[in-house]
Amino acid sequence: MGWQEEYKSRLCTAEEAVSHIVDGDVVVLAHAMGEPPALVDAMVANAEQYKNVEIKHMVSLGSGGYAAPGMEEHFKVNPLFVSGNVRAAIEEGRGDFTPAFFHEVPILLRKGKLRCDVVMAQVTPPDEYGYCSLGTSVDYTYQAIKSATIVMVQVNDKFPRTYGEKVHVSEFDYIVEASTSVYESKPTKIGELEEAIARNCVSLIEDGSTLQLGIGGIPDAVIQLLGDRKDLGIHSEMISDGTLALYNKGAINGKYKNFDKGKMVVTFLMGSRKLYDFVNNNPEVEVRTVDYVNHPAVIMKQHKMVCVNSAIQIDLMGQVAAETIGLRQFSGVGGQVDFVRGASMSEDGKSIIAMSSFTKKKDGNIISKIVPFLDKGAAVTTSRNDIDYVITECGIAELKGKSLRERAKSLIRISHESVKDELKFEFEKRFHEKL
Ligand code: COA
Repeated sequence: MGWQEEYKSRLCTAEEAVSHIVDGDVVVLAHAMGEPPALVDAMVANAEQYKNVEIKHMVSLGSGGYAAPGMEEHFKVNPLFVSGNVRAAIEEGRGDFTPAFFHEVPILLRKGKLRCDVVMAQVTPPDEYGYCSLGTSVDYTYQAIKSATIVMVQVNDKFPRTYGEKVHVSEFDYIVEASTSVYESKPTKIGELEEAIARNCVSLIEDGSTLQLGIGGIPDAVIQLLGDRKDLGIHSEMISDGTLALYNKGAINGKYKNFDKGKMVVTFLMGSRKLYDFVNNNPEVEVRTVDYVNHPAVIMKQHKMVCVNSAIQIDLMGQVAAETIGLRQFSGVGGQVDFVRGASMSEDGKSIIAMSSFTKKKDGNIISKIVPFLDKGAAVTTSRNDIDYVITECGIAELKGKSLRERAKSLIRISHESVKDELKFEFEKRFHEKL
C-alpha cells in the first residue's frame, strides 16, 4: 500500500479518534502551538466516557477544558510545566506536577519513565513522500509519536512546514483533517523597566555570540537593543517575533556558530502568523528535538553561547527559584537549567538570569525578588553552583567563583532601594561585617 492509501485508510473524525482512549490511559499533548485543538476539544466533549485519564504536556495554550472543576473523575492533569490553563487545578489538588528538565523529556519517554499511551499532535499535510512536519513544535512531540501506543494527529493546512525532524503518515493511527488557526502569542509590553534590565544584558553580549532568549518583556527588550550587533547566531529553546525583527535588521547570520552554521536552531516556535509565515519552508530555521537543542552537551559546544532566563526569587547565596512562588507551582524548569549549564560550559559563554528587582503586591506594595531566604516551600530551579550573572534594572552581579559573602554583597547592590536596609541587616548578622 502506498502512503496515499495508508493516509486515506486512517482518516476519521475527531470524535471517532478520541473514542479509542480508554480508562487509565496517559494522553500526551503536543507542546505549545502544536497542541491539536480539534482532538483536545473532542476529548473534552467525550469526558463522560472516561475515568482517570491522565493528561501530560509542557506549555499548553488550549482551553484546558480537561482541567476544569468537575472533570477530576474523568481527567487527572499531570503536566511537566504549569501554564495558566491548569494552574488552578494543581493548586486546588485536582492534579499533580512532574518536574523534569526539558531536554530530558524525550529521554524519559524513550526509557519508559514517562508513560505515553496516546499522543495527540498537530502536523502539516504530507509532502510528496508522505512525510509531515511537526511545524512549530518538534521538542518532545517527535519522541512521543515514536513512543505512544496510539498516535492521533490533526492535519492542519495552516500549520507551518518547518525544517527539522519529520514524521511519516505510516506512524499515525488516526488522522483528522481540520483547518484551524494556529495559536498565536500576544505581543509583550516593553516599558522603561524592561529596557533598563535589557541594557544591562546587552552590555554583556558581544558580536558573534550565539543566543538563547526566552519569551517575555525582558527577552524582547534585549532583542530590540541588539540591532547594532553583528554576526549573531541563534541556538535557542524557542524564538518569537522579536527574533524575526532582529533577523530583518541583519544582525543574525549564524556565521560564527561552531555547527548548524547559518541556521537558527530551536525546538519550538511561539509567535504570530508573521513568524509562522517566515519559518514556512525556510531552510534557515530548523525546529529540532529538544534532546538535541537543549542538551547541555550540545549547547556547550556553541560559539560564545549566551543565555538569558528569568526568575521569581534569588536568595543571597544565588539560589534561583524560577518556577514556584513558595509552595505554589507557578511554571516549571523548562529549559532554564539546560541553557544555564550549557552556556556556562561554553568557551566564552555567559549564563544570565535577568529579572526586575521587585514585583508588586495587589495593593501596590513592593516585594523584593532578591531575598535573604527563598520562600518556604520554594523549589531551587538553578542552584548556587550553576548561577553566574544576575541582572536587574539596578545593575549586574557576577557570582561564579565568588564566595557567599561576595555574592551577598553583589546581590544587595542590585536590589531594590526599598529593601536594601533589610538585606544589609541580614548580611551583617550572617557575616559579622558592617556594610
Ligand atoms: N513573589 C511573589 N510573586 C511573584 C514574585 C515573587 N518574588 N515574582 C513574580 N511574582 C508573580 C508576579 O507578580 C506575577 O503575578 P501575576 O501573574 O499575578 O501578574 C507572576 O508571578 C509572574 O511574574 P513575572 O515577573 O511577570 O513573570 P514572567 O512572565 O517574566 O516569568 C518566570 C518569569 C520566572 C516565571 C518564567 O521565566 C519561568 O517560568 N521560568 C522558568 C522556565 C524557564 O526559565 N524557561 C527558559 C527557557 S524559555
